[in-house]
Amino acid sequence: MDMKILVLGGGGREHAIASSLSRNSRVQLFSVMAKRNPGIFQLARKTLLHKETDASAVIRFAKEVSADYAFIGPEAPLEAGLVDDLERAGVACVGPSRAAARLETDKGFCREMMERHGIAGCPKYRTCHSVDEAVTFIKDYGGDLAIKPIGLTGGKGVRIMGEQVDTGGAIAYIHHLRGNVVLEERLIGEEFTLQAFVDGTHLVPMPLVQDHKRAFEGDTGPNTGGMGSYSMPDHMLPFVTASDYTTSLGIMKSVVAVMKKTGQPYKGILYGQFMNTAEGPKVIEFNARFGDPEAMNVLSLLSSDITDIVTGIIDGTLSSAKVTFDHAATVCKYIVPEGYPDAPDAGDRLALGTTGPALLYYANVDEKDGRLFTQTSRTLAFVGIGQTLEAAEDISERAASSVTGRIRHRRDIGTTDLLNKRCNHIKELR
Ligand code: AMP
Ligand code: GLY
Repeated sequence: MDMKILVLGGGGREHAIASSLSRNSRVQLFSVMAKRNPGIFQLARKTLLHKETDASAVIRFAKEVSADYAFIGPEAPLEAGLVDDLERAGVACVGPSRAAARLETDKGFCREMMERHGIAGCPKYRTCHSVDEAVTFIKDYGGDLAIKPIGLTGGKGVRIMGEQVDTGGAIAYIHHLRGNVVLEERLIGEEFTLQAFVDGTHLVPMPLVQDHKRAFEGDTGPNTGGMGSYSMPDHMLPFVTASDYTTSLGIMKSVVAVMKKTGQPYKGILYGQFMNTAEGPKVIEFNARFGDPEAMNVLSLLSSDITDIVTGIIDGTLSSAKVTFDHAATVCKYIVPEGYPDAPDAGDRLALGTTGPALLYYANVDEKDGRLFTQTSRTLAFVGIGQTLEAAEDISERAASSVTGRIRHRRDIGTTDLLNKRCNHIKELR
């Protein structure tokens, strides 16, 4: 029987979701996105170009096309309660309810839940609602802290003391946020991402990925949504030991168990961002959706049928779904407009060169009469797949550097040099 699946969202992540759904010829794909993503547009039978958080418009469209399921890509509709609204209207969703999505959308909720239930990996933190309280905490704490706005910021709202700001800069930032901040112990180590499919009870983990948040080579410059990411053929990372992996997966399992026990069961994709420190993995944050770009690494490797996973998540039968990933390395590199993220140049023409075997995922890019133009965010992602990291990097680098226009990308992502630096960093710490 055909399956009608509505994909909500129009970024690179959603193009990767739509591509993997389209590999099953029984899937009829529909899309709601605010801006026309040319990749998704081409795959979808019908598209509604509309704000993704507008529940009544999304429901009307879902009914019109008789969607069986909705797959929610980004966090904004989760925060707006689209899953609750769609499910009330009879459309089952891959994605958590508004209450469960607070794991991502309310950093204070997340930390308090971890603390109350004794979940491992929680850094020291304080949630503040006034400038005085936050400034007093900074002065009393003495060490370096991470300063985060309480709500969603697209990964760009964090300021790290000792790295991006001094105490004066931290206090100025707290004033700017009117004191509504989570202050956290600054974690030192190497970051990694563990994503899992979740059906309310069971978790099925995906290969580990490392993202690169900083805008420029050598991890310098401002934080971005993520400039690129890689994964290894064994689905692990060389600076994450088997014991680190077991700890981080255990933390995610505990979170899912607590969410169930407290009456807000979690289903959809759970994204754990960890800092591997001298003492083992600590939680930087959870996201209630796939990472962007991390979705492109793992979904490009998924060798089993994603629709089995979709029904497993929705029916609570994930433990019996077949989930397999190819044993290959992946490297994803994002092309971004010059000036991104602070002052991106939008509206410039770009042209693809010889992109070879790289997979191409469209993100925030305009297509007019077959020509591509930058917008203000990440533009195109190229994924190389290879037997080794070097081979995968070579494929994505050649494709990324073939693009011409007022754009750039990080050449160092997925290189052996950068990987060695990560491994040496962990050796020094331990
Ligand atoms: P987030 O928006 O929470 O994903 O944070 C963005 C980036 O800030 C992360 O990828 C980390 O590089 C950094 N970060 C966040 N929290 C901490 C922390 N407690 N210690 C050190 N770095 C952090
Ligand atoms: N790559 C980080 C995120 O999607 O939030």
